Amino acid sequence: MANNIKEDLMLFNELITIFLEDELQNPVSEYINPRDVEKTLDIKLHEDGAVDDDFKTSLKQLILKSPKSSSKLFFNQLFGGRHSKAVLGDLLAVMLNNSMATYKIAGPQVSVEKEVLLQVQKLIGYDNKSGGTFPTGGSMSNFMSLIMARDKVDLGIKEKGISKNLVAYTSENAHYSLSKNASFSGIGKANVRHIKSDKYGRINVLEFTKQVKLDLESGLTPFYLNATAGTTVLCAFDNVAELSPICKKYKIWLHLDGAFGGGVIFSDRYKYLVEGIQLTNSFCFNAHKTLGAPLSTSILVVKDKQDLHNSFNNNAAYLYQTHDEEFNLGRSSFECGRRNNALKLWTMWKAIGTRGISKIIEHEFKLADVARNYIKTNSDYKLFSFEDSLSICFNYKNFDPEDLCAKLYESNTLMVGFGHFHKKVFVRLVLVNCENSLDELMQFFKVLEDFADKNSHLIGKYK
Ligand SMILES: Cc1ncc(COP(=O)(O)O)c(C=O)c1O
Repeated sequence: MANNIKEDLMLFNELITIFLEDELQNPVSEYINPRDVEKTLDIKLHEDGAVDDDFKTSLKQLILKSPKSSSKLFFNQLFGGRHSKAVLGDLLAVMLNNSMATYKIAGPQVSVEKEVLLQVQKLIGYDNKSGGTFPTGGSMSNFMSLIMARDKVDLGIKEKGISKNLVAYTSENAHYSLSKNASFSGIGKANVRHIKSDKYGRINVLEFTKQVKLDLESGLTPFYLNATAGTTVLCAFDNVAELSPICKKYKIWLHLDGAFGGGVIFSDRYKYLVEGIQLTNSFCFNAHKTLGAPLSTSILVVKDKQDLHNSFNNNAAYLYQTHDEEFNLGRSSFECGRRNNALKLWTMWKAIGTRGISKIIEHEFKLADVARNYIKTNSDYKLFSFEDSLSICFNYKNFDPEDLCAKLYESNTLMVGFGHFHKKVFVRLVLVNCENSLDELMQFFKVLEDFADKNSHLIGKYK
């Protein structure tokens, strides 16, 4: 088959038109047991290439059977929906295929990335010493912040390895990336303290202080706190304003992981949830979670750009041949060849402005308010979530949430997951699809209730 970009873009248009129509009619794709995928779809690769019609049929079947993560009945993950302007930017990035390492290969795309970072820095109150980058995701953003904190203790670690007993802190509700990052960075998983949270899922500040003092008394070196703006399950916001003075006092790098909830920085109404954010050493958020940008759109900003440079700069004569360091973004990124993930946020921001992004966030909080109120006023439900959270955790009647979610999925009815907090299990409805209307939200409850009530004999009961 010919390598013909124009033909293939026409095929793309044809396939994606079919897909978008199907997404409206069938918001949940047909479930296929993973062991049956190869029997159902033409996945196998062969010595000879496919002929045109077979190729098109294979692609069509594959996309129609893939989970529809942007449909109105997808509430399973911390991402959902799609903003068309961000999709446009991402499609352009694929076609342009610049790498963000140097000005020579990215040209004005460097300014695109720098402008987005600058506006984020301004929104959170960092000054002109600040910097940032677009890592591959929230896990990588957290990793980079941990490395900067480690190197801040002693830059010699880059050459000689770690000789001090470094201790990192986070909440018991933090994302699992911190444990993985501790192992990758040589800190060690055992040297991460998972501080108990209060009943709202926020780090207990007294417990944190107590643990830091204990570690100091034991001769250890506390160096890093990973606080969260929007914990993965409950979407709780740690109290940055209270944590910051303690970090300052004990010289602990304060990173705010806003992968999930950090988008509140765009909203005058909700940015109080990250009060004190300007006091952090670094902050990240994922525009692919709450803003409807395609995966991955992760932003990491750092109060002092020198820290980013200190940890991530490396000489590479074959790569850095033109222009100043400030335009060669590879000097402050993890990767060498790096996808242009900034363009999709830039196209969206350019098209709808900061005000438009703020409306997206506020709409999602509105959806969450409506969902919470519906649950609160309905005696068939038990609510586990708190105010100002995008994650609505509940149980319906006495149905086992794990079994209910599994059966909803396997019957192609609804994509929603479950979560745990303080020994409780519940359905976790995440309201991050900016395209969902209030009516469509109510449709979620109706679909869930009808399904559970009709199939009550098949769904396990929760004790
Ligand atoms: C609080 C938090 N931090 C980090 C991450 C990881 O982000 P990513 O999936 O982009 O690696 C997540 C993902 O759900 C998260 O909820």
